[in-house]
Amino acid sequence: MKLVKLIANLGYGSRKDVTQLFRAGRITDADGEVLYADDVVAYETIRVDDEPLDPPPGLVLMMNKPLGVTCSRKDPGRVVYDLLPPRYSVRSPVLSSVGRLDRDTSGLLLFTDDGALLHRIISPKAQVAKVYEATLAQDLRGDEGPLFASGTLMLETEQEPLAPAMLEVLGPRHARLTVTEGRYHQVRRMFAAAGNHVETLQRISVGGLTLGELPPGEWRALDADEVALIFNGAA
Ligand code: URA
Repeated sequence: MKLVKLIANLGYGSRKDVTQLFRAGRITDADGEVLYADDVVAYETIRVDDEPLDPPPGLVLMMNKPLGVTCSRKDPGRVVYDLLPPRYSVRSPVLSSVGRLDRDTSGLLLFTDDGALLHRIISPKAQVAKVYEATLAQDLRGDEGPLFASGTLMLETEQEPLAPAMLEVLGPRHARLTVTEGRYHQVRRMFAAAGNHVETLQRISVGGLTLGELPPGEWRALDADEVALIFNGAA
């Protein structure tokens, strides 16, 4: 791919804007030598204003989504894309969140511009385990574990029962739930079906990938080994 198109696709501006960057000598190699639009150079040597280029397509990020931000592109309030560099919202191919977390759910949220990878992660067939920790408005009754594990729990308005999910009781009003699907408000609706109400909800892992020490509101790119971890234990 020609350099102008490659750099424009990363969100640095239109092709016209990027052509101007070349003309102004702002695109160089790692030694500061000015590059020309038809040069052929290794991606990792390209600098814009002395900074390395953003990562190439195939980007996978994880964010510790804070409370109060929406997984949407157009929402009157704060959206998850506001927490990423502005250029990341205008890249091509488009960078999308992998599924969604509710505005009032925090925790591990993935983003990628790789559509095939995105579908592989969210496909119920892949059985990627999503682990949530919930605090509840009322004490657990004791029958939630078998109910969620049954594979017969039918949520209102759904046509198919939920796949079996695993509940671990962490306290009278505190539980960890592992699900392999991503239905709308799934965890909140599961506890509602068991006569309870979720007060706080956090996603702590997706497959074998955990949040680690990533603080709320922060994000980082994943390497290939971390992406592979997502499918640890998957079907
Ligand atoms: N289940 C929910 O109810 N909300 C989320 O954000 C994720 C899973």
